[in-house]
Amino acid sequence: MYAVAPAPRLQGRNLLRVSDVTAEELSAILRLAAYLKGRGLNEQLALLRGKTLAMLFEKPSLRTRVSFEVAMTQLGGHVVFAQGNEFSIGSRETPEDAARVLSRYAHAIVIRTHTHEPLARFAEAATVPVINGLSAAAHPCQAIADMLTIEESFGTLAGLCVAYVGDARNNVAISLAEAAVLAGATVHFGAPNSHRPSESFLAWLKRLGKPHGGSARAFANPVRAVRGADVVYTDVWTSMGEEALAERNRAVLAPYRVDKALFAHAAPHAIFMHCLPAHRGEEVTDEVIEGTRSVVFTQAENRMHAQKALLAALLTDLRGIPI
Ligand code: CP
Repeated sequence: MYAVAPAPRLQGRNLLRVSDVTAEELSAILRLAAYLKGRGLNEQLALLRGKTLAMLFEKPSLRTRVSFEVAMTQLGGHVVFAQGNEFSIGSRETPEDAARVLSRYAHAIVIRTHTHEPLARFAEAATVPVINGLSAAAHPCQAIADMLTIEESFGTLAGLCVAYVGDARNNVAISLAEAAVLAGATVHFGAPNSHRPSESFLAWLKRLGKPHGGSARAFANPVRAVRGADVVYTDVWTSMGEEALAERNRAVLAPYRVDKALFAHAAPHAIFMHCLPAHRGEEVTDEVIEGTRSVVFTQAENRMHAQKALLAALLTDLRGIPI
C-alpha cells in the first residue's frame, strides 16, 4: 500500500547528473528522504544490511565523504573508502576495467573526480549503480539535498524563485539549476559574462523545465537576479583545481558577494544557501551566513538524509516503504 505514489523504479540505475532522473523520480527521492529523516535509526537499520558501498575520491571532501559513510552505516551497510594515489580514474587501468572489477566487490560506487568523461565511461561499464560524488560537470547529490532543504523551508518547490549568484558555470550551479527547473522553480543566475552559463545550457534548462513550469534566466546585474527571490544561493568563486584563476575571479565576482545589502533585495522570507565549504568575506559575508535566514547547516545535514534516500532507491526495490 502506497501512501502517496508508487515507488520509483530507480533500482540498479546510475546518478551522474540530476537529469538522469525524471521530475517524478526526483520528487519520490525527496519524499523518501523526508520519510527517512523522520524515522528513528532502529527503523532504518535493516534497509541496506549486508550491502557495501565503495567510495573513490580523487579530490578532498568533508561533507560528501562523511555524509555518505554515516548514511550507509545507519542503513545497516558498510563503506570502503579509497582516495588520492590509491584511486585515480583511468590512471592505472582503463575506467572500464576498474568498473568491471569494482562491480564484483561492491553493491554501489560513489566517485569524486575531476573531468566527467572518464566517470561516464566508468558508469557505462559498471554493473552496479555509480553515483557522481562531484565532477567538473555536476554535483547531483548536493542538488538533491538542496531541494530537500528548500522544500522543508517552503513546503513546496514549484513556483519558487531560486537566485544563484557568483560563478554560475560551476558544477553546483549546474546541478542546482537542473533540479530546480525539474521541480517547477524559476532560476535566476546573477553573474558577469565571464561566469555566465552558456546559451546552450540555458536552452537545455528551458527544455528540461518547460513540462514542469520551471524556467531559467541569466542577469549581469546581481540585484536584478536576487530581487524578490525566495532563495539566494552562492558558492566559492574558485572551484577545486582552478586555483590559478583565483585572483581574476576575486576581481570580477566582487559585485556578486552576498552581503546584507544584496540579500535585502530578496523576498522578506528568503533563505540563504551555500553548499559549503564557504570562503567567508569572499562570496558571502559573516553577517549573511550567520544570519537567521541562513540554512547552510541544515543543508549540510540534509546531504545525509538525501543520500540515504538515494542509496535505498538505487539499491533496493523500496518494498514496504510508504512513499
Ligand atoms: N558540499 C560538498 O560537496 O562538500 P565537500 O566538498 O566537503 O564534500
